[in-house]
Amino acid sequence: MSRDLLQATREMLAGIQEEVPSEEAALASVSRLREVIGAHARRYYEQDEPLIADGEYDRLMHWLRRIEEAYPGLVTPDSPSHRVGGAPLAAFEKVRHPEPMLSLGNAFDAEDLRAWYDRCRRGLGDVPPAIVCELKIDGLAVALTYRDGLLEVGATRGDGVTGENITSNVRTISAIPLRIGPPAPGRIEVRGEVYMPLSGFARLNETQAEKGEKAYANPRNAAAGSLRQLDPRITALRPLAFFAYSIGPGEGELPASQSDTLRWLGELGLPINAHATRFEDVEAAVAFCEHWAENRDDLDYEIDGVVVKVDDLASQDALGAVSQAPRWAVAFKFPAREATTILRDIVINVGRTGVIKPEAVLEPVGIGGVTVSQATLHNEDYITSRDIRIGDSVVVKRAGDVIPQVVAPIPAVRDGSERIWSMPERCPTCDTPLERLEGEADWYCVASDCPAQFIRLVEHFVSRGAMDIEGFGTRLSHQLVDAGLIRTLDDIFRLELQGLLGLEGFAVRKAENLLAGIEQARSRSLSRLLFGLGIRHVGKTVAELLVSAYEDLNALAGSSLEDLTAVDGVGSVIAQSVVDWFSRDHNLELVRTLDELGVNIRRTAEEAPPEGVSAELAGKTFVVTGTLDGMSRSDAQAAIKAAGGKVTGSVSRNTDFLVVGGSPGSKLDKARELGVAVLEQPAFEALLGL
Ligand code: IVH
Repeated sequence: MSRDLLQATREMLAGIQEEVPSEEAALASVSRLREVIGAHARRYYEQDEPLIADGEYDRLMHWLRRIEEAYPGLVTPDSPSHRVGGAPLAAFEKVRHPEPMLSLGNAFDAEDLRAWYDRCRRGLGDVPPAIVCELKIDGLAVALTYRDGLLEVGATRGDGVTGENITSNVRTISAIPLRIGPPAPGRIEVRGEVYMPLSGFARLNETQAEKGEKAYANPRNAAAGSLRQLDPRITALRPLAFFAYSIGPGEGELPASQSDTLRWLGELGLPINAHATRFEDVEAAVAFCEHWAENRDDLDYEIDGVVVKVDDLASQDALGAVSQAPRWAVAFKFPAREATTILRDIVINVGRTGVIKPEAVLEPVGIGGVTVSQATLHNEDYITSRDIRIGDSVVVKRAGDVIPQVVAPIPAVRDGSERIWSMPERCPTCDTPLERLEGEADWYCVASDCPAQFIRLVEHFVSRGAMDIEGFGTRLSHQLVDAGLIRTLDDIFRLELQGLLGLEGFAVRKAENLLAGIEQARSRSLSRLLFGLGIRHVGKTVAELLVSAYEDLNALAGSSLEDLTAVDGVGSVIAQSVVDWFSRDHNLELVRTLDELGVNIRRTAEEAPPEGVSAELAGKTFVVTGTLDGMSRSDAQAAIKAAGGKVTGSVSRNTDFLVVGGSPGSKLDKARELGVAVLEQPAFEALLGL
């Protein structure tokens, strides 16, 4: 049944077009479309067990709305487009909301947002309204009724008119105060979002896996599943949090604008999201939306957009609502990051250190405009603990720059043909038995001459971040290793025109270009070479730290464990790995031959430690966040390094300064929490003498 539903859904998603169909075609397909949407809505709202990603559901609903708008004659009274959510669960007592909890219309880009703003302006007699932008937290809307300051009832949104009484569960959420004020308002309804922070979500899924229970597909499902537990003791164990964003009906004098409402809610002791900002015009709101679309990964919770609201409540009333959504607010939606598809196979990939990474081969699926056909499955435990099987329908997530990952299977649609996967016992390339060290999640091929590892090392050595050899990529690495032209890294610098011309696809021009690229690479900086050698734990930053302490590879080769650990930022694990690498004869031989072949193994002038290091900055650790005026984040980082400071990506107890620009993310909260010094741009520039 669910499998048929999924099949039908996939066909419908694939059939969505730019243009609405002819009325005849619409008539033929619309009732099935409604059925499918209705079935997904029930799984989502009533069973907390969706079969498809939220973005996919939204696309279906959007398609239905477009068809109904084009052909109003086809609208039926029971169309799911009229419903906001799901019917309440039978097991919870029902609560009728004193005022319906509305949903929001969507804006998918800046143009949509400007068009919405123009409609508001026109609706308000051509007076451009001030607006408030709030992060759209991806959780679950709840209504909390407080009487004389005491929490009386907590309810889910349900279908917007009737929700479920989840008071006992809500009381277990520590972020929700049981008492608000003083002064306590008579009776008010506070509306907001219950959500699960990403850190808590990751922990919850780990414990679920350890207990052999199902992993939640995303923090929103986890929050919904946790909030709608019939046993509040289970809810109490779940890491739920809350942000209040508005008030429903209430007694006494209430604030007259959305921005005042947020301030007042905060004063009453309710948690308010710190990023909400009031703007005078729509362009600033567009910038806010674009900023958060870029930087959503800085937060410890998922957001799926920005809610933009007209600030003045009297103007909100004047604008009113259409069907289920107010005219005075809109949801600026970010591109989808999740989709469901079929896991065709699991293959294993041998990394350059010999690490074995299981990889998903997927039925290609579009996520936020990119076709995804491969995704990581991390390691053996990840697959077994989540019970991910070959042939499963799976949720795939593609977030930011991170490689796509399979998040969870959808067991409800199994038909018995799925196969349980197990880790092969031997390396698929060199047949060496794989090993897994005690306490490690990964398996390794420990053969020193494994061709798969070597190809990966070549790919890494020539890559953009390392020796940056133009025209040398994955394909060529394979081809040259397979042809036997490269057996050790130094062979790259022994390549000659004749040898290359014998290879498939190599004409004189291409071969000459490659050789020119290799020639240039001989004079790359030492830190690039060192990083390119692929020593375990020596990433780009560590390579730079080592180069600032050692002037050439021979000096580094001769250093002891103690010398290495004395280098700032180098711990014993890194030091041991460096010592091990240089203790192998073939590596020492490699260093010697690279030198002989004219490859630079010495620190370049730019890599020498800066002379005029400022005493205030030397060795200090900085994190840069937010947007700086007239200076990109990488310029700021370069300036810090040039003055002798260090730059890291996240705030910890070891951070000395957090440099903040406009719209800083959670890093600022973290810095405050840890008492890290915060520098705003003027202070930062003064410190650097800019
Ligand atoms: S305002 C009429 N503000 O988004 C206004 N909603 O489709 C309705 N949400 O159900 C909601 N953060 O679950 C509002 N700052 C925010 C929000 C927010 C998340 C969710 C909420 C609502 C849905 C709107």
